Amino acid sequence: MSQVTEYSEKVMDHFMNPRNVGEMENPSGVGTVGNAKCGDIMRMYLDIDENQVVRDAKFKTFGCGAAIATSSMATELVKGKSVTDAMEVTNRAVMEALGGLPPVKVHCSLLAEEAIHAALWDYSQKNKVVIDGLKAPVNDIEELEKEEQE
Ligand code: FES
Repeated sequence: MSQVTEYSEKVMDHFMNPRNVGEMENPSGVGTVGNAKCGDIMRMYLDIDENQVVRDAKFKTFGCGAAIATSSMATELVKGKSVTDAMEVTNRAVMEALGGLPPVKVHCSLLAEEAIHAALWDYSQKNKVVIDGLKAPVNDIEELEKEEQE
């Protein structure tokens, strides 16, 4: 993906009109992650049916515009996917769907990926379901951010 220096139209659209904002009563899984460096926090709720398909997703993000846009796109991408396929909604997939992010904003999309993983982890623990490739979530994504930059 070529480097972008400003926000794409899609990023602006999802920032100005974020999809799936809100909370969920009795979610199948909920996860909260933050980035201690910028102070942004994201909470993701997933409603997962008996066939292990994500029926609905909601989010609340206290963060920058890119964090809001990436959470919005991430919820759109996980809806209708099986919990296994939801693992493919990586920060790169979210960024690509948004037409890219400026390099300084890449970490915001990591927050979205980790929030999905945290919610899936909560679901997997509650239902004793094993999801391939899913690891225990981190509370602060700064660690992952360092890996991403290497
Ligand atoms: Fe922290 Fe965007 S600046 S998530």
